[in-house]
Amino acid sequence: MRSPTLSPPTVRRRIGSLCAALIVGFLGSATVLVAPPAADAAETTLGRAAAQSGRYFGTAIASGRLNDPAYTTIASREFNSVTAENEMKIDATEPQQGQFNFTAGDRVLNWAVQNGKQVRGHTLAWHSQQPGWMQNLSGGALRQAMINHINGVMAHYKGKITQWDVVNEAFVDGTSGARRDSNLQRTGNDWIEVAFRTARAADPAAKLCYNDYNVENWTWAKTQAMYAMVRDFKQRGVPIDCVGFQSHFNNDSPYHSNFRTTLQNFAALGVDVAITELDIQGASPTTYANVVGDCLAVPRCVGITVWGVRDTDSWRAEHTPLLFNGDGSKKPAYSSVLNALNAVSPTPPPTPSPGTGPIKGVASGRCLDVPGSTTTDGTQLQLWDCNNRTNQQWTYTAGGELRVYGDKCLDAAGTANGAKVQIYSCWGGDNQKWRLNSDGSIVGVQSGLCLDAAANGTANGTLIQLYSCWNGANQRWSRS
Ligand code: XIL
Repeated sequence: MRSPTLSPPTVRRRIGSLCAALIVGFLGSATVLVAPPAADAAETTLGRAAAQSGRYFGTAIASGRLNDPAYTTIASREFNSVTAENEMKIDATEPQQGQFNFTAGDRVLNWAVQNGKQVRGHTLAWHSQQPGWMQNLSGGALRQAMINHINGVMAHYKGKITQWDVVNEAFVDGTSGARRDSNLQRTGNDWIEVAFRTARAADPAAKLCYNDYNVENWTWAKTQAMYAMVRDFKQRGVPIDCVGFQSHFNNDSPYHSNFRTTLQNFAALGVDVAITELDIQGASPTTYANVVGDCLAVPRCVGITVWGVRDTDSWRAEHTPLLFNGDGSKKPAYSSVLNALNAVSPTPPPTPSPGTGPIKGVASGRCLDVPGSTTTDGTQLQLWDCNNRTNQQWTYTAGGELRVYGDKCLDAAGTANGAKVQIYSCWGGDNQKWRLNSDGSIVGVQSGLCLDAAANGTANGTLIQLYSCWNGANQRWSRS
């Protein structure tokens, strides 16, 4: 829910009283200095603990469970990323050829956005959970249907999904290292790269992943086959950004400590890696901690998703493979994961790179701009064509300010979703301090919210606000 932005007089009053408080603080002899929280204070939820190192901790969400308050309470408290368990699959989103249905997918997406979570898209091209009409297609007709499907779904979710599993489970189990026989495979070996090229064109801001299971053990033929494909794609310039390791561990496909080697080797090819559907038969706390440790050991391991909230929500409920019991209580594996996430040393705040320059929106290609080159306090920022004028020149100071015209600061007029971001005379407040993160987000120190092009806008005049960080392209910025 958006709260109304503060009107300028309210802001001035607030700032005025804050200034007064600061002055009293400096002068008063009995001032108690409140120490900032220790940088390594243990976090108490999975999402916040993972965020200490810039990672996410997500879960699969089933739309049918969103009216169960016990379920949503845990899901909204613990996780900061969401994957639709079934709702964005081919049978759900295109039940009849050419007729798209996003009702259930949107339910999951809207719940995620309303609760401040980023969304992984799952999945666009797969041999399984195809609607009947697609199962009956082959050859050129199927190839074209796959392309149309990717275009239709990605257009609907454009700018809202951080990573898409473009292709899922294309390799066969066992020792052959071959592609899985499927109707998609029979359209020609190049179906995977065609899917990725189509996806890149459909939403250039989304990260494009290949996702599979039984590819965690470095020595397995399926792992090696996937590695050879990703290496080949990188060499030939096929657009691939990430590899998802489903990580469904069980007695037939157990966790092996060489998983870390696997993650490292894929990352070294120049892709991000992620653990996308984690569940572990029996939920051994040690194994869960090992998996988390493997991700944390690899800088390009961007996050972990468990495949469901409580054991009773799991697709393999009989394995009791998750972090919460059916009654919502935390299992030993939960504490083990939380401790492992908390053991990592938090990423130090990025050192501001010196210099002055434009700040360009990744989605829009347009620059953070003071409308009409005004210097009036309270003027809300906008996107505008980059033109190198002084109203687009921002200096990041050692104190974390973003200054324009020398003495005006990028200033948050509130701390809630939708608060306007304006220029205001610099005064040293936390509402004028920003963290520039390596993922391109710019986070307000006071609010913890992200600098956001409103309503996913990209046009000239799009207003700039604060909004829950979801890693969308309308919240990523580049400085030059
Ligand atoms: C599973 C869902 O959890 C089930 O609800 C559904 O019946 C079948 O699919 N690999 C994947 C996931 O990529 O999409 C699968 O999810 C589990 C295996």
